[in-house]
Amino acid sequence: METQKRDAWSSNFGLVLAATGSAIGLGNLWKFPFITWENNGGAFVIVYLVCILLVGLPIMMAELLIGRRSQKSIVGALRDVAGPAWKFVGGWGVLCGFILLSYYTVIAGWSFFYFWKSLGWTFGGFPADLSTGDLFGAQVGDAWLQFMLSLVFSIATVGVVYFGVQKGIERVAKVLLPVLFGILVLLLVSALGMSGSGEALKFIFEPRFGELEWSGVLEALGHSFFTLSLGMGAMITYGSYISRKQSIVKSAGAIVAFDTLIALVATIIMFSVIFSVAGLSEEVGKSTVGMLFISLPELFYTVMPFGTVLGPLFYVLVALAALTSTISLLEVETSFLIDERGMKRQKAVIVSGAAIFVFTIFAALSFGSTPVLSTMVAFGKTGWFSIADHFVSNWMLPTGGLAVAIAAGWFMTRKATEDELVDGNQPDWFRYGAWRFFIRYVAPVAVLAIILAVILGRDFS
Ligand code: PHE
Repeated sequence: METQKRDAWSSNFGLVLAATGSAIGLGNLWKFPFITWENNGGAFVIVYLVCILLVGLPIMMAELLIGRRSQKSIVGALRDVAGPAWKFVGGWGVLCGFILLSYYTVIAGWSFFYFWKSLGWTFGGFPADLSTGDLFGAQVGDAWLQFMLSLVFSIATVGVVYFGVQKGIERVAKVLLPVLFGILVLLLVSALGMSGSGEALKFIFEPRFGELEWSGVLEALGHSFFTLSLGMGAMITYGSYISRKQSIVKSAGAIVAFDTLIALVATIIMFSVIFSVAGLSEEVGKSTVGMLFISLPELFYTVMPFGTVLGPLFYVLVALAALTSTISLLEVETSFLIDERGMKRQKAVIVSGAAIFVFTIFAALSFGSTPVLSTMVAFGKTGWFSIADHFVSNWMLPTGGLAVAIAAGWFMTRKATEDELVDGNQPDWFRYGAWRFFIRYVAPVAVLAIILAVILGRDFS
């Protein structure tokens, strides 16, 4: 079926940047601070770090190695390394990417709105009588605006993936990621100078194990899949563009380390700002989107040093981080159509981008502008967006991750995985044995625990 020459990263650096870009996204800036808040920081953060290390890292290595071994996107990859029936698991991943991208784009689009608004405040001053809560409500309730924001973001994603792995994805990641790091450093410096930073650091890092509930442990585990882009084939697809010369162990380590660092830094920044305003910290935690789009916009202009400059930059950061993630989601769909349907890249990108956008419209209109979509109820969630997010986070990613662990740990031969991981070195416990133990036993048991908890009624979205 392979008629076109397969794309590849130009270097190890290209892979690490693109995959780090995929991992760093709304999960780090929007979800992680919120669930850290919800679970009382401290112990939750430690448990999250343990999950990343014991489950996330081994599965990251598994996805990259499955990709490189097969040189195919998720459906063909799982079929090649684990057996014919595994193509259905691959299909599950493609479907998951489809749904995830369709609603992720909506929040990503909001960053454009807030960038535009904050730019106006930077030059025109922050209106004293403005309620950012009302502004938010008006923004999400405006159907036409929601449609346009999502459309522009979708076009940006399609525009990058259209140009392929090296000329599109890698090139964009090489420019965007350093910019993203730069903006984050500026924000961090300013945030650490604020009066609330000490309290913020204490909240995030002081272990208070008495306060952590068992459900929080499982939530940390679930989020480690979301934040590392695992469980739906993004890293398998990116792994399929790695050449034989590159080290999977080192790349996986770097991607995981960067993603974790950024999640922590983003949380420190947000909490420093929030803790600097007396009384505010009580309210913020109440809504998932509240922190990013209701509290912060105002705080940039009222309390944060250099906030007038940093405000617009922050929303550029959100947009860039989201874009490098949506790119990887669309690449999963695109590479599936290229590998399994023999389509040309350009056609595959446009076909999948357009199909996904139809569903993006549903998500975009489900924040109040369209009653049917905003009030529908399923799985105890209200509104199309929340239902989709619930389904993906609670069911699709964990089951996908479990399948990957089983494929790599139990269906692939020891020789095959060893070949991919040891890079011609002597396989020893550190280079190989530890991974094998974690992928066969630790990761599946942990993931099964999440799924069990979900079945017993716990919500991770
Ligand atoms: N990791 C991304 C984030 O944290 C989300 C994502 C999940 C991207 C799965 C691609 C695949 O925002």
